[in-house]
Amino acid sequence: MAHKVGVIGGDGIGPEVISEGLKVIESSGVDLEIHDYDLGGERYLRDGTILPDSILEEWKGLDVLYLGAVGTPDVPPGVIERGLLLKMRFELDLYINLRPFIASKGKRTDGHDFIVIRENTEGTYAGEGGLLRKGTPHEIATQGSVNTRYGVERCVKYAFDLSRSRPRKHLTLVHKTNVLTFSGDLWERTFYDVAEEYPDVEIAYNHIDAACIYFVENPQRYDVVVTDNLFGDILTDLGGAISGGIGLASSANLNPKRTSPSMFEPVHGSAPDIVGTGQANPTAAILSGALMLDFLNESEAARKIEKACAKPETQNGTTRQIGDAIAALV
Ligand code: IPM
Ligand code: MN
Repeated sequence: MAHKVGVIGGDGIGPEVISEGLKVIESSGVDLEIHDYDLGGERYLRDGTILPDSILEEWKGLDVLYLGAVGTPDVPPGVIERGLLLKMRFELDLYINLRPFIASKGKRTDGHDFIVIRENTEGTYAGEGGLLRKGTPHEIATQGSVNTRYGVERCVKYAFDLSRSRPRKHLTLVHKTNVLTFSGDLWERTFYDVAEEYPDVEIAYNHIDAACIYFVENPQRYDVVVTDNLFGDILTDLGGAISGGIGLASSANLNPKRTSPSMFEPVHGSAPDIVGTGQANPTAAILSGALMLDFLNESEAARKIEKACAKPETQNGTTRQIGDAIAALV
């Protein structure tokens, strides 16, 4: 049976890289039933639509969502981010943001050398806070961080399960417990409580600032990393930079309970400066497609795609040429 996929090409290079991703998946022989959604900054500028509840309802009938990139320079910051991307994460309860990396600086391998599990529905992204006396000399801005035992525990458990399934069985908690003594305390206690159920998984703890050094100098020390929403956002851009660039960085926004569709997207943005030039590397989108196939239990096709992306000869040329070369190998 064909898997039902909601496709949001989005803005800028988003549609270009997604069409290569769909081409590669097609070449793997996996059957997709595509449902196209015109959403993003361009759509918002045209008619004010961001993400209506009716579309969210429709999505509940789909298996997965595949997104290119959203964002246009003419839309003020936050509108599309909060209204579309974060709304998807919150409303579909996509509480795991999974981002795999290749540890050997820029040298591509066909394995995922380490994976960051970022909590995706809480922390500073919950939007707690506000402005008081805005625009006056006495204005106040607060921006809180929401951390629940429930939210932290389900994320940490997912990370332990993932670590257990990998050969090294090693999990590092990254936080800033020496300064964020409230949320850090909850994360740390939850981490060590859950660890008792996983005696076979080796554990470690790093402060976020130290982790930034280790990412650059010795990423091989990591197998699975679990961290909060904002630390995970920053650390995964660094992860992309040390492992071949953001053009290769893939991600999955997962609802592991499968009560609504999970969403798969490259880590990079819409890059309006290179739209239409053929300079966008579609590999991040293609690898995100492989993560999507894994989630759909099409692991054989996923491994084939990852292997093809790892071959250096597929990594030259324009957006379409790279897509064609990967599809040919698959
Ligand atoms: C990411 C992006 C988003 C985030 C933005 C666009 C809201 O940077 O997926 O990492 O901060 O999560
Ligand atoms: Mn980011």
